[in-house]
Amino acid sequence: MQYRKFGKTGETVSILGFGCMRLPVMDGKPEKIDSTKTDEMLNYAYDHGVNYFDTAYTYHRPMDPAVKKGFSEDVLGDCFRGSKREKIFFATKLPTFNIYKKEEFEETLNGSLRSLKTDRIDFYLAHSLTKPTWDRMVKLGMLEFLQKAKESGKVRHLGFSFHDDLSVFKEIINAFNWEFAQIQYNYLDVERQAGTEGLHYASSKGLGMTIMEPLRGGKLINIPSKEINDLWKESEHPDWTPAQRGLYFVWNDPAVSVVLSGMGALEQVKENIAAAENAAPGILSEKELALYSRVRDMYWKRIIAPCTGCEYCMPCPQGVNIPENLNVLNELYMFDNFAESKRAYEFLPKESRAEQCINCGTCLPKCPQKIQIPDHMSELTNRMA
Ligand SMILES: NC(=O)c1ccc[n+]([C@@H]2O[C@H](COP(=O)([O-])OP(=O)(O)OC[C@H]3O[C@@H](n4cnc5c(N)ncnc54)[C@H](OP(=O)(O)O)[C@@H]3O)[C@@H](O)[C@H]2O)c1
Repeated sequence: MQYRKFGKTGETVSILGFGCMRLPVMDGKPEKIDSTKTDEMLNYAYDHGVNYFDTAYTYHRPMDPAVKKGFSEDVLGDCFRGSKREKIFFATKLPTFNIYKKEEFEETLNGSLRSLKTDRIDFYLAHSLTKPTWDRMVKLGMLEFLQKAKESGKVRHLGFSFHDDLSVFKEIINAFNWEFAQIQYNYLDVERQAGTEGLHYASSKGLGMTIMEPLRGGKLINIPSKEINDLWKESEHPDWTPAQRGLYFVWNDPAVSVVLSGMGALEQVKENIAAAENAAPGILSEKELALYSRVRDMYWKRIIAPCTGCEYCMPCPQGVNIPENLNVLNELYMFDNFAESKRAYEFLPKESRAEQCINCGTCLPKCPQKIQIPDHMSELTNRMA
């Protein structure tokens, strides 16, 4: 395993981190983690030098929205009791999207400590910050709570994970003495969310950078068209698997410290650990990077609705979350992975799905991109039916 410095935390982390959001489960139920398979995977990673394990209070919770806590932390805590615990880092997250009362901060942190069976969390993140959750958390006193948690020793280093645009990312970076940040980054998303600019901005301020969704949640594994497949044949590394192509792109950037992979099978753990052995900044030549760029353009050309997520179309009188539904439709075109798109569609609350659209057209004059929103809602409804 190779290791990199983790910004101003002063820690040294393995370049491959284990994302514990997609552990193998039984009967298709997220809360029923297959602990035998999971232990085998976690131990293989540990034995091969992985020292960064990323989980969250909410990972692997039941589908019932009333249940707020998941079981990923418990499985991790059970696996790494005793002396092993001292050799690894636990990263877990405060579910900002579920917290509405001040006292819930401490209760939630204590719940994570109990599940992880530890007296301290090495890397504690405000989970999934967006502009609305960030503003709400600041008002509720999250920053003071985090600072106190650090002073008490329950938490060692403070960071946040992020899902909004670059300007919000910079605002959050500049508002607090964060030590690290976790962003969605892969060869398709260089100009989305924090993007390459955000990665370098945060890194230049001394933050350790953790990458999530390096394979876009697995969607970069199956190549959706012959054109993209043919382009990859021009690669200087024709033997690389799609997973390796995705991971090497992210490791190529020295601003990246640790890349989280949400591995769901032992074979994936083995492949990604083997890939990490050969990763180094600069592994991709300029020519190869230009090829990634052409592949990226080809993927983005596949989208059907050029939605920027500006939300000018909102609110919809029927309660449809238009940008989210357009995103599902776009990803269906982009990746041609019906099962994954159906899962994303059904993940949306029923009352905000495209099927609620009655074709009233209120949204049409509001869209700066002139997207034919009702037509797309109707198409998505039909394809998901
Ligand atoms: N803080 C946040 O807001 C947030 C959000 C998202 C993720 N995360 C964290 O970041 C971690 C990584 O994100 P992610 O899980 O989306 O990562 P990812 O690496 O982009 O996607 C993981 C998926 O990629 C596929 N995969 C991985 N290695 C493979 C291999 N060698 N061969 C074939 N397929 C492979 C698997 O798909 P299949 O299962 O289909 O085989 C796996 O489920 C998560 O586990 C979680 O810990 C945090």
